[in-house]
Amino acid sequence: MSLTNSPDPAIREALVQQDLKHVLHPIVQHKVLETKQFVVTGGQGSTVFDADGTAYLDAMAGLWCVNIGYGRVELADVAAEQMRKLSYFPHTAMNAPAAALADKINGLMGGGYHTYFVNSGSEANEAGFKIARQYMKHEYRGEYRFKTVSRYFAYHGTTLATLDAGGMGERKAKFEPFSGDFVHVAPPYCYRCPFGLSYPGCGLACVKNMETTILGEGPETVAEVIVEPIMSGVGVAVPPDEYLPEVESLCHKYGILLHVDEVINGFGRTGKMFAHQHYGVSPDIIAIAKGISSAYMPIAATVVKNNVFESFYGDPAENRQVAQVNTYGGHPVAAAVALRNIEIMEAEQLADRAADVGKYLLDGLTSLKRREIVGDVRGKGLLLAVELVKDRATKEPVEAAKITAIVDFCRANGLLVGRGGGGRRYGNTITFSPPLVITRAECDRIVDTLDRALATLAIS
Ligand SMILES: Cc1ncc(COP(=O)(O)O)c(C=O)c1O
Repeated sequence: MSLTNSPDPAIREALVQQDLKHVLHPIVQHKVLETKQFVVTGGQGSTVFDADGTAYLDAMAGLWCVNIGYGRVELADVAAEQMRKLSYFPHTAMNAPAAALADKINGLMGGGYHTYFVNSGSEANEAGFKIARQYMKHEYRGEYRFKTVSRYFAYHGTTLATLDAGGMGERKAKFEPFSGDFVHVAPPYCYRCPFGLSYPGCGLACVKNMETTILGEGPETVAEVIVEPIMSGVGVAVPPDEYLPEVESLCHKYGILLHVDEVINGFGRTGKMFAHQHYGVSPDIIAIAKGISSAYMPIAATVVKNNVFESFYGDPAENRQVAQVNTYGGHPVAAAVALRNIEIMEAEQLADRAADVGKYLLDGLTSLKRREIVGDVRGKGLLLAVELVKDRATKEPVEAAKITAIVDFCRANGLLVGRGGGGRRYGNTITFSPPLVITRAECDRIVDTLDRALATLAIS
């Protein structure tokens, strides 16, 4: 089987013209696309190929999601086999792949969970907000608990509610005003502690800030707290070990549900199957997506602890059932593919591999600290970031144009990296979230290419 389409400039050009004429792309500016296109035609392992036949090491696994790597032909076979049996039926009925997948997810979570299937990470969080609200209507009759407490610089999705939950001003600006149902608190972004403190002397001021906010809003108005265990979009902020347990204690203290966003963190990415498992917490609601199928099919889920599930259980006349539905939830083909994807992860021990190879890549990236511009190198497993600063003492971010130049240099040298950062002020972080099958030699290439970028562009 040929992995790349044979480079044919005429075919590529026809495709580009068709695309420019008819497709509306997300985020990228069409005017730029007229002169600079990236036409991807194939992938294998950690590598993707463009229409010119050029190979790129994909250090972002697409959009933080192709955890088992590209080119797993057996997933195509699973999809075809399931399509021949049952291509689709609404999930008000039962189907075998979705039941088996929910069973598998429950086992991975350690037991005690039910799974509600949706199609994207945004939908998984959105369903979580609604489940939290409905739970509160059932459990606290007469009270009006509807607010979600979230963190600045977080990203939880692209729908209006998930965008509102997020804390990235520049992503929200074009869509304001929002509902006001999402209340934001300071993130545990220790490199740039919002309180100007240092761990452990800080006494986890960010958790105290969360408690002040809950009390200020009135706990009787708050339904849930949403947190990504390790914040990705801000440029990979790993919190102190006590942070998540302390947030969980706050939730218990005020009768609030803990909603964990594992959309990026989940499925081995951070060195355990789920990132919250590093911290010994037991969330009430868990949003999963991306790595659940390694993006071979669009599928996601909102996983709820059985105490939440029980609130939705009763006689039909009580009207406690889940008050939402979506056409493709529990899709049998997507579920069959996701299940096999997880089986591959388990057979190849990819979570352990992420811990091991991730440490190797972290060490390699940390060696770049010999360059003054490298302010911070951080991460867990294969979720990593390098934050670049003009001055280590002041931590002033490097200019956005320099980050663009680095990303472009890497691309020109066959390496795809991401960029992140906390909002308008801090877009100064290079991010890495490669397929969990990445080899040590490929990690060396990442470090070497970034090093050359900093040297060649004289940004050091
Ligand atoms: C942490 C987090 N939550 C939710 C989402 C939304 O997922 P989706 O793009 O599948 O809707 C994303 C997307 O990148 C994410 O990073």
